[in-house]
Amino acid sequence: MTAIAAAQPGATSVAGARSEAYVEDAVRAFVIATIFWGVAAFAAGVYIALQLAYPVLNLGLEWTTFGRLRPLHTSAAIFAFGGNALLGTSLYIVQRTCRARLFGGPAVAWFLFFGYQLFIVLAALGYVFGITQSKEYAEPEWFVDLWLTLVWVVYLVAFMGTLMKREEPHIYVANWFFVAFIVTIAMLHIVNNLAIPVSFFGTKSYQLFSGVQDALIQWWYGHNAVGFFLTAGFLAMMYYFIPKQANRPVYSYRLSIVHFWSLIFLYIWAGPHHLHYTALPDWASTLGMVFSVMLWMPSWGGMINGLMTLSGAWDKLRTDPALRFSVTAVAFYGMSTFEGPVMSIRQVNGLSHYTDWTIGHVHSGALGWNAFITFGALYYLVPVLWKRSGLYSVRLVSYHFWIATIGILLYISAMWVSGIMQGLMWRAYDNLGFLQYSFVETVQAMHPFYVIRALGGLLFLTGALIMVYNLWRTARGDVRNETPIVRAPAQSAAAE
Ligand code: HEM
Ligand code: HEM
Repeated sequence: MTAIAAAQPGATSVAGARSEAYVEDAVRAFVIATIFWGVAAFAAGVYIALQLAYPVLNLGLEWTTFGRLRPLHTSAAIFAFGGNALLGTSLYIVQRTCRARLFGGPAVAWFLFFGYQLFIVLAALGYVFGITQSKEYAEPEWFVDLWLTLVWVVYLVAFMGTLMKREEPHIYVANWFFVAFIVTIAMLHIVNNLAIPVSFFGTKSYQLFSGVQDALIQWWYGHNAVGFFLTAGFLAMMYYFIPKQANRPVYSYRLSIVHFWSLIFLYIWAGPHHLHYTALPDWASTLGMVFSVMLWMPSWGGMINGLMTLSGAWDKLRTDPALRFSVTAVAFYGMSTFEGPVMSIRQVNGLSHYTDWTIGHVHSGALGWNAFITFGALYYLVPVLWKRSGLYSVRLVSYHFWIATIGILLYISAMWVSGIMQGLMWRAYDNLGFLQYSFVETVQAMHPFYVIRALGGLLFLTGALIMVYNLWRTARGDVRNETPIVRAPAQSAAAE
């Protein structure tokens, strides 16, 4: 712990009455939106998982086919659930760690809230009605992209403006990660969506780039969406909420700064690992591979920093299941950032690419890391934002934790087995040099694993519904007769 760390979230504050000055109504709305879109995204995930196991659930309608509902699920999970969590927590954190009211006040915060929800609804309608530009994670057409650009610029100005009028001398590390997230997403979004509309009133557009250049730009975007949307912003949450929940300053402030600069420098180069064995020159995909392997170090440095923040407070894991979510999230972060570099090695990718192994990797990150760190933050935020003394039920948090954890384990282990089996079956030859298995045989072999994955997803969704009930009762001010989470001084720091 350093002197700087002592002035940061794990430490108690002097703010007191200042909390009245913070913009909180819109943050509360972001919290509700996170929960709402989270349930929608998980339900869509369960539905498409069932479609893969039982194709009859495509219902024979174009709007409900897997091809249209899949981007609905991915965008609902990443941009609606994850995005609302990031916007809400960033507005909350920047105000508190800077001891400054949001630049632009409630008007800007509400513009961000409604502007972002409009983006989500426009994007979702586009998927169902088949209006997309067919780029993964960047499906919305040009007019939706333009609207998001406007919202994002306002977000950047509000965030930077708040940093500039801060009363705290240091910029806490969580804000560094949020700035990297906001600035890089703006850059990625604009470059990857450079397109020429066919007509001013039409919905269709064509990309500026073509062929392998388009692929490179797309995966430069795609991987950095992982690096800066699903990682940098969520790391900011880790750096704020774990110290708060554990009531400890971050383990090493110095390590967090090294973590920050090395992570953002390395991530931006790793995209070409998505394009091994393609028309992309070998040197470029090797570059992506080398930078991906190097990413191991900062990722694990960050994980260690998050986990070690609990030094001397590990016992809290027994009594505080909300903290258990955050800490397990960091462990999953470590796991998926171990697996990612392995998968980026060309020869390993030769087996894993196009298989369910990738899907397993994605969801160990998405469910274990992104969703779990968000659940930890929500359990922390709702009592604070609704000014309640604690959660309605700690036991329900524990049920949520175990049900969701079992769900994730079922999901990812089924996908690992299915993915590696699928890859090995595709490349198996018989004595005469013919392929040993037909494609349909590989699909049949995967069926049981698809059923297990759907079951895992259902458990994850069930856990989330338990959370909704618990948080709703908390917001109403109800309390169950249980042992509360003991977080005494931190709770007062949180009210700051
Ligand atoms: C109940 C929870 C969930 C279930 C059951 C679920 C299920 C699925 C299914 C069935 C697919 C399609 C797989 C395929 O095409 O073979 C998928 C893809 C995907 N999901 Fe989920 N999902 C869940 C939660 C999430 C969350 C919370 C996130 C992100 C925060 C997420 C992000 C993604 C992404 C990025 C893909 C595309 C992966 C790729 O193209 O490689 N999912 N999900
Ligand atoms: C050091 C960190 C990481 C590295 C080097 C890495 C590397 C990789 C590799 C090699 C692939 C497979 C690419 C392919 O075969 O096409 C992949 C896919 C993916 N990873 Fe990671 N990963 C990392 C961390 C994460 C984390 C923390 C998440 C968070 C959820 C994540 C989300 C994804 C997604 C969504 C995909 C699927 C992309 C697609 O094909 O649609 N990754 N990653």
